[in-house]
Amino acid sequence: MTALVIAMDGPSGSGKSSASRGVARALGLRYLDTGAMYRAITWWMLHHGADLTDPAALAARAGAPVLSIATSPETPSVTVDGTDVTAAIRTAEVTGAVSAVSAVPEVRARLVAEQRALIGSGDIVVEGRDIGTVVAPDAPVKVYLTASPEARARRRTAELSGTTVEAQREAMARRDTLDSTRKADPLVMAADAVELDTTELTLDEVIAEVLRLVKERT
Ligand code: DC
Repeated sequence: MTALVIAMDGPSGSGKSSASRGVARALGLRYLDTGAMYRAITWWMLHHGADLTDPAALAARAGAPVLSIATSPETPSVTVDGTDVTAAIRTAEVTGAVSAVSAVPEVRARLVAEQRALIGSGDIVVEGRDIGTVVAPDAPVKVYLTASPEARARRRTAELSGTTVEAQREAMARRDTLDSTRKADPLVMAADAVELDTTELTLDEVIAEVLRLVKERT
C-alpha cells in the first residue's frame, strides 16, 4: 500500500477515537489524536493561570508549551514540558476550557504545523475536527462521523463518572456550537468526505465500514 492518510473528523461522542484506533490497529498504521493536542495546550494554559477569557493573552503564550505526542494506537500519550498529561487532559476542567483555547488562531496555526509534521509521509489515521478540510486536505480517505445527540451523550456519560445523559447532552450542545461557529477552522464536513452515522452501529461495524472505504479509495 502507498503512504496513506485517513482523516476522521466529527463532533465529540460520534465514536471517532475508538474507531480511529481500531482502524489504525487493523491496518498497522500510526494514530494521531489532534484533540489531545488542543487539550494538552489547554491543560498548560490552566496550569499557568492564563486568562481563558482573553484571546490575546492565549495567543501570546500559544508557542510556549513544548508538546510531545506518541502516535501508537495501543498507547496514545501526550506530554507538555515533559509532564505526562495523558490522564489530566480528560478532566471536566480541561473539557470545559478547550473550546476557548482551540478558537485562538495562533494556537491552531501552531498545532496544524505540528500535526502536518507528525503526519509526514503518511501511513496514519488522524482524528479531529479539521483534518479533511485544513490539516490534510489531500488525504485519500476522509470520513465524517456523526451520531444522534442522544447516542453521543449516552456514550460520553458511560465514559465519565458522576454525570447524567441530560447534563452531557447540554454540555455537548454548547461545545458543538462553539466549535462549529468559531472563525478559525470551524467544524465542517469536507466536500469530499463520506458521512457515516454511527447511531445504530457497533464499533466493529464502524471500523468495518471505514476499512471498506479505504479499500475502495486506495
Ligand atoms: O476530540 P476532543 O473532544 O478530544 O477535542 C477537544 C477539543 O479540541 C474540541 O472541543 C475541539 C478541539 N479540536 C479542534 O478544534 N480541532 C481538532 N482538530 C481537534 C480538536
